Amino acid sequence: MSEQVDQGRRTWVAIACGAGAVGGVAAAVPFVSTFQPSERARAAGAAVEVDIAAIKPGEKLTVEWRGKPVWIIRRTPEQLAELPKLDPELADPKSLRKPDELTPEYARNGWRSRKPEFLVVVGICTHLGCSPSDKFTAGPQASLPNDWAGGFLCPCHGSTFDMAGRVFKNKPAPDNLEVPPHAYLSDTRLIIGEDKKA
Ligand code: FES
Repeated sequence: MSEQVDQGRRTWVAIACGAGAVGGVAAAVPFVSTFQPSERARAAGAAVEVDIAAIKPGEKLTVEWRGKPVWIIRRTPEQLAELPKLDPELADPKSLRKPDELTPEYARNGWRSRKPEFLVVVGICTHLGCSPSDKFTAGPQASLPNDWAGGFLCPCHGSTFDMAGRVFKNKPAPDNLEVPPHAYLSDTRLIIGEDKKA
């Protein structure tokens, strides 16, 4: 997985690579237009509006909010179906730890989001702050268990997270990835940094 930052728009473009037996299959995430506040407002932590219409199932868009990468991932039906099966392997499957800090009330559910299809999380590992890599492709691959169902791998010290940003047991990262305040302004527009408008 690689990520590039377009400094002009402060939007990361993620390229997720599948690690299949015959080599990687890369799928470029389309560049999604965003409405951005001024630099001064951004520094103060202004909310960020994002157009999510172009994100296809299985793709991820990264935007910046408060200087942090926020991932918006459109999960496939197959990825959603795996989530409940993983509960016994997770450190905090019900998102009960530090709920005020990590999981807003509307995301304290099995998929950790307002809409099951879209996951919105801060892409910073809760161990020492590295940014985990996309490992969306299920199946055996380097540094992951053979029954891997898709998720994220933090390359720093090996913490793994599922497609809801929930950390697996017995990993250095103590907690799930943070779900930032967010709300839907419409079916295709998301605001990150506010959650009163939904
Ligand atoms: S920073 Fe992610 S495992 Fe250490």
